[in-house]
Amino acid sequence: MIYTTKSESETADLGRKIGEQLSGGEIITLSGDLGAGKTALTKGIALGLGVCETVVSPTFTLMNEYSGRLTLYHYDAYRLGGGREAYEAGITEYFGEKEGVCVIEWWENIADALAAYPKKHIAITVKDQNTRIIEIVDK
Ligand SMILES: Nc1ncnc2c1ncn2[C@@H]1O[C@H](COP(=O)(O)OP(=O)(O)O)[C@@H](O)[C@H]1O
Ligand SMILES: [Mg+2]
Repeated sequence: MIYTTKSESETADLGRKIGEQLSGGEIITLSGDLGAGKTALTKGIALGLGVCETVVSPTFTLMNEYSGRLTLYHYDAYRLGGGREAYEAGITEYFGEKEGVCVIEWWENIADALAAYPKKHIAITVKDQNTRIIEIVDK
């Protein structure tokens, strides 16, 4: 499916709808340049999962955990150089967790650690300042 959003709140709203449909165990991989809207989409997914806390970018923490209807594990793998580093940081153990959902920014950096898991892949492309093309593919 391909969607076009015209603002950050439209992207969050799409994320909320995605989040509402999750049932646990999903891994959502996010692709897109810096500033594309990966974190904005994740904030919406969090709302759809019933997370009340404010979602902040896990740039320095690698992974933030939020409780909701399902636990949200929100990753930023920007600083990681491979699946082994993710494993050594202790953050791979939540992959596929049945009572949770993993949302992973910069997942390409740890693709080897994710190879065995089914993934919902979301690619965000910047069209212009406020327009984003958002493509969702199940793999
Ligand atoms: N349609 C849109 N969807 C999402 N973000 C948008 C959109 N239009 C403009 N923006 C802006 O783009 C930026 C996206 O930031 P962020 O979600 O942190 O990106 P990323 O996590 O991909 O680096 C925000 O400043 C947001 O206001
Ligand atoms: Mg981000």
